Amino acid sequence: MKKILVTGGCGYIGGHTIVDLIDNGFDVISVDDLSKGSLRMLNGVERIVKRPVKNYRVNLCNLEDTQAIFIENPDIVGIIHFAAFKSVPESVSQPLKYYRNNIDSLVNVLQCAKDYGVHHFVFSSSCSVYGNPDSLPVDENAVLKEAESPYARTKQMGEAICADFSKSHQHFKTVLLRYFNPVGAHPSVAIGELQETPENLVPVITQTAIGKRASMSVFGTDYDTRDGSCIRDYIHVMDIANAHTKALQYMLEGNISQSCEVFNLGTGKGVTVLELIAAFEKVSGQQLNYVKSDRRPGDVIAVYANNDKAKKLLSWETKYSIDEMMETSWRWEKELKNEAERIQLN
Ligand code: WQD
Repeated sequence: MKKILVTGGCGYIGGHTIVDLIDNGFDVISVDDLSKGSLRMLNGVERIVKRPVKNYRVNLCNLEDTQAIFIENPDIVGIIHFAAFKSVPESVSQPLKYYRNNIDSLVNVLQCAKDYGVHHFVFSSSCSVYGNPDSLPVDENAVLKEAESPYARTKQMGEAICADFSKSHQHFKTVLLRYFNPVGAHPSVAIGELQETPENLVPVITQTAIGKRASMSVFGTDYDTRDGSCIRDYIHVMDIANAHTKALQYMLEGNISQSCEVFNLGTGKGVTVLELIAAFEKVSGQQLNYVKSDRRPGDVIAVYANNDKAKKLLSWETKYSIDEMMETSWRWEKELKNEAERIQLN
């Protein structure tokens, strides 16, 4: 089996991607310092794949510790790099923490890829590199606008570092995956998004519905959109996960023609905040307690993907509907509540 190193493997998208990689016959090791990720995620992954998955608890900003992983695993053939901080507001209040962590870790992992001959590298990027796009749906050739936050800028910088790296080392190929809005949970709900105080819309919805929060705000209903609320391209995390497997296969099978390829990972459908809330209420049978509030600074009005390139070159298709995204998110929230109650009883 081909061995893949997943950095940030104890995080939301990292964990779901490990499941898809193993389901597709890869051997996987994780590196995660657990500053944001959790072993609860990895335990859930192990329950799904029914086998142990090794995690190296290493801070990738430490080059020596990172090198030790590659020395111990000379058979790594590919890397998927998720490990990064991703809170937009936190990046605004602590930019240097974000540049130090997100850039140093990336450079160290690329340095090891070069030194230990790992030629296939997938970088976790984001639709936030587009800023407010001029036209929709946005495709990979769109001009990247001024980043809305230091977080988004670390993704723009990360993409440029990957592109320069693969240009300067002939055999090294990189794929940049620009996620739109990952949501949902693995159908088993053994894993899902773990955020105690989330900022993202879907976990805020499910925490409000289950009573963890008394209410929630819809940030802005006066935008120039069909119902006044912002438009996003929500995509199930398992569809995102499968795209990583497909990207690795694309490189390992020698199909990649460029030294660095960029792909949008979205469904291609724009959904407003109010439409998503309506879908949740339909699926859950729960009336959601929300108030219409002022706009959130830095919000993009509307962004959704042209995903033709990934569909064509990666032979990738999205499989989950908005209702299934809401259904798995809701079941995951209820699973977390049951788990908390079981822990309280013991
Ligand atoms: C979506 C919409 C909010 C919370 C995120 C990440 C970004 C990137 C893309 C990874 C917006 C509205 C939200 C709430 C609300 N992902 N909202 N009430 O801002 O598109 O970006 O996904 O790289 O890094 O930050 O996602 O879920 O925060 O917001 O009305 O309580 O929901 O205003 O219109 P966003 P989000």
